[in-house]
Amino acid sequence: MATKGYKGIGMEGFIARSYDENARRYSADQYKEWAEQIARRIRNGDTVLEIAPGPGYLSIELAKLRRCTIIGLDISATFVSLAQKNAKNAGAEVDFRKGNVSSIPFENAMFDFIMCTSAFKNFKEPVAALNEMNRVLKPNGRAWIVDMKHNLSNGTINDYVENKMKIKSTAAFYMKFMFKYFLQHRAYTKEQFKEFIAKTNFRRSDIQESLIGFELMLEK
Ligand SMILES: C[S@@+](CC[C@H](N)C(=O)[O-])C[C@H]1O[C@@H](n2cnc3c(N)ncnc32)[C@H](O)[C@@H]1O
Repeated sequence: MATKGYKGIGMEGFIARSYDENARRYSADQYKEWAEQIARRIRNGDTVLEIAPGPGYLSIELAKLRRCTIIGLDISATFVSLAQKNAKNAGAEVDFRKGNVSSIPFENAMFDFIMCTSAFKNFKEPVAALNEMNRVLKPNGRAWIVDMKHNLSNGTINDYVENKMKIKSTAAFYMKFMFKYFLQHRAYTKEQFKEFIAKTNFRRSDIQESLIGFELMLEK
């Protein structure tokens, strides 16, 4: 029997298409900000893997800033085709493919840098995901993971949706509902992240906390 590679509902069809629309409308600045941060950490010529790129906007923004080989790997067939279309429309060269982070379809030590945003909480096998990232990184390669944290207060979620994402009216209501009742319950605490990392071969790790989540930098 085929096993699901994600926790909860898979993001296919209508769910993926509406995520793409919301991402384009409300998170464009966020993807640009992340791409600028990553561009400062890598060099032209590096090989970069984005795990779970969804509609692909982070890789697309990064491709505009650095001459790198960028590959995106996502378990959702709908997202892979949306990301391919978005890259074509933006004139960006990114190779989006279908695959599962629990079993990354690449050889050992291929990548200089791995990035993964707003997706780690969806992975069914978090330790296997980290071990696979470690395996495909070159020695001294780094994995950068950003995701939300568990147990956010309603005030923090409201503040983030209204003031950071700048979402208004019905869309704001929907987004707050998703954050409060679905997303944050799947997310991890800092202690859980530390436990996962302790079961891997990463040499160094740094976890920074932000308003709604964590930013992890892991070094092989
Ligand atoms: C909330 S979306 C985040 C998309 C994108 N990273 C962003 O920041 O907008 C979560 C993504 O994780 C992908 N995903 C979930 N489980 C996965 C797995 N086991 N392997 C690869 N991708 C997975 C989903 O298909 C989806 O694209």
